[in-house]
Amino acid sequence: KNIQWDAVTAEKDGYKHFMLKEIFEQPRTIEDTLKGRVFPDEARVYVEEVKIETKFIKDLSKICIIGCGTSYNAGLVAKFLFEKFLRVTVEVDIASEFRYREPVIDNKTLVIVISQSGETADTLAALRLANKKGCQTLAVCNVMESSISREAQHVIYTRCGPEIGVASTKAFTGQLTALYILALDWAAKKESLSKDVLKEYIKELWSIPVKVGDFLKTSDNVKEVAKNFSAKRDFLYLGRHVNFPIALEGALKLKEISYIHAEGYAAGEMKHGPIALIDESMPIVAIAPLGDVYEKILSNISEAKARGAIVIAVASENDKEIKQKSDAQIYVPATSELFSPFITVIPLQLLAYFVAEVLGKDVDQPRNLAKSVTVE
Ligand code: AGP
Repeated sequence: KNIQWDAVTAEKDGYKHFMLKEIFEQPRTIEDTLKGRVFPDEARVYVEEVKIETKFIKDLSKICIIGCGTSYNAGLVAKFLFEKFLRVTVEVDIASEFRYREPVIDNKTLVIVISQSGETADTLAALRLANKKGCQTLAVCNVMESSISREAQHVIYTRCGPEIGVASTKAFTGQLTALYILALDWAAKKESLSKDVLKEYIKELWSIPVKVGDFLKTSDNVKEVAKNFSAKRDFLYLGRHVNFPIALEGALKLKEISYIHAEGYAAGEMKHGPIALIDESMPIVAIAPLGDVYEKILSNISEAKARGAIVIAVASENDKEIKQKSDAQIYVPATSELFSPFITVIPLQLLAYFVAEVLGKDVDQPRNLAKSVTVE
């Protein structure tokens, strides 16, 4: 079954493309996904529709997170949260791999499937396998009454509205929002985070839509960077920790709409191979917000620069050092490292968009791609 949104009625709202409109909708879609679930004044999280028992959360042996493409990348970010907040083993799998392995899963496993459309064939097959093996299953989904939302035992909906652009943007930040909410909810139930820490994280999550909105006001800066680099044929995206999945996501966005070769790498892996590729013809996008791994990525940037790389840094607005270390800077609002993926992914979505725009590509319907991959 193919999902066909009515593209005529879903207006572009004056934006040239759906993708750009959807990027700019994110302050609202994140907020909508938070509302009624996160209560910062009471330092409380409540997800009415997910009725997983506290005992099950406490006794969990493992969480498996499954998705494809952008949804898989959201799962990679979530691994950090669940491990940190719940001290539980987390595995993240590409749906088409999971379904053909012999995954070790049972009735103490929670399987989370992530899908914007709810119709991705491999993700649906992985969900069916998990249901058959007696796991508890939960879907993070954007489409009500989709196959995945119907077949999962629990569903948390992202409230993004229809996503028309083939390149997923607002669905990704919606998925992150839902996953952060779940991690906080279960940490509260398991009492695995202190009340103070929980309160601080809830406050931080609540502040995300405003920060995303603030960044979007500076989008012209990203347009300039895109203009300067759109002639390049290869890009390397580097990130560490929670921003490693964001490097993957940034590279995926650029590939799919501009047809420029891009790779996402964990910055610490650079010297195990990709460093051989580095020269001035392959820009490096370094995702380097301030935080615990900042110094580490800074030294990766220096290693790359020493080999002639041109570095575009995505950095915190209060970073005084990065200007000397990189060739172009995109500053994002300061946020704690753990919550930074919400903010660092936005410039990468915009960068991909503006590069594709400069190159005159069909942004909303890139060649060879379908919005929803309903066949294997
Ligand atoms: C992202 O920009 C893609 N077009 C693609 O990777 C997408 O995220 C993937 O096909 C999964 O789709 P789903 O979330 O609807 O399951």
